[in-house]
Amino acid sequence: MANETFIGWMTSIQQFMEQTLEHVLPASECAPQKLHEAMRYATLQGGKRVRPLLAFAAGELVGAAPDNLARIAAAVEMIHAYSLVHDDMPCMDDDVLRRGKPTCHVAYDEATALLVGDALQTRAFELISTPLPGIAPASQLEIVRILAHASGHAGMAGGQAIDLASVGLPLTLPELEFMHMLKTGALIRASVLMGATAGRELSPAEKEALDAFAKRIGLAFQVVDDVLDCEADTATLGKTAGKDAAHDKPTYVSLLGLSEAKRMAKDLHDQAFAALEGFGPQADRLKQLADYIVARSF
Ligand code: IPE
Ligand code: IPE
Ligand code: MG
Ligand code: MG
Ligand code: MG
Repeated sequence: MANETFIGWMTSIQQFMEQTLEHVLPASECAPQKLHEAMRYATLQGGKRVRPLLAFAAGELVGAAPDNLARIAAAVEMIHAYSLVHDDMPCMDDDVLRRGKPTCHVAYDEATALLVGDALQTRAFELISTPLPGIAPASQLEIVRILAHASGHAGMAGGQAIDLASVGLPLTLPELEFMHMLKTGALIRASVLMGATAGRELSPAEKEALDAFAKRIGLAFQVVDDVLDCEADTATLGKTAGKDAAHDKPTYVSLLGLSEAKRMAKDLHDQAFAALEGFGPQADRLKQLADYIVARSF
């Protein structure tokens, strides 16, 4: 499929997501206005929307309804936006720039940023626990379970805890991989799995193949994030470059060096591609997303 077709698809999903998020986030005119405004500030008009794109690409593979995918994708994006708000707080990475704007706690205040995370998380679960037309209750429950598992102690929050506990420590490669799999990989993996649960039943082998793809690409995503933190500039990234080294964070770059980290991202990309072999052209969108994730410049 031509690259232009992919860019057109990506743009249309990104626009659809913006409209969906606009609609599902609380109105800033309603009380409590400051919280609502800050939730919108942290979520709207920014970000690549990679997790929604993955949910849509996996959903297309199983013929899922776009309106259901939009709700699933909005939920995972809201969890992601909350994770960024908390990640940037002084008690975590202490960052002042996110998506080209002052971070939430800088634009508002720390208490508001904390509550933005809490409220985005619960709104996300409200969205996907409201009946999704045409999806069997057991499948919808599974979608909720996937997101809960990926967000909590065995996923994003657990990974963030390991990240904070690892500052200045010489992690081994398996320890680093475990941390990355949790803090970033889990939500990426969940995006694919939730999209794939919203349509036709997959065989166990198909599920396993998609899961293998999702795990590899989730890890590749954070490896590339680490490389970009080291190589790209602040204006391009929309967040402060060079923070990992400044904070003595264990990353693939600090452990392996830049060129090995890049090679690792490419290997993970190739393994992700190989996992999709059995699907044929139905999986083209997922493959194009894998290309984008590894080749991106921000
Ligand atoms: C950044 O995620 C934080 C990580 C989990 C590595 P993204 O690179 O997806 O950030 P946005 O959503 O595009 O801003
Ligand atoms: C953040 O990882 C992962 C989550 C928010 C869960 P990073 O701390 O590397 O993300 P950036 O670089 O600040 O976006
Ligand atoms: Mg962090
Ligand atoms: Mg950070
Ligand atoms: Mg980073």
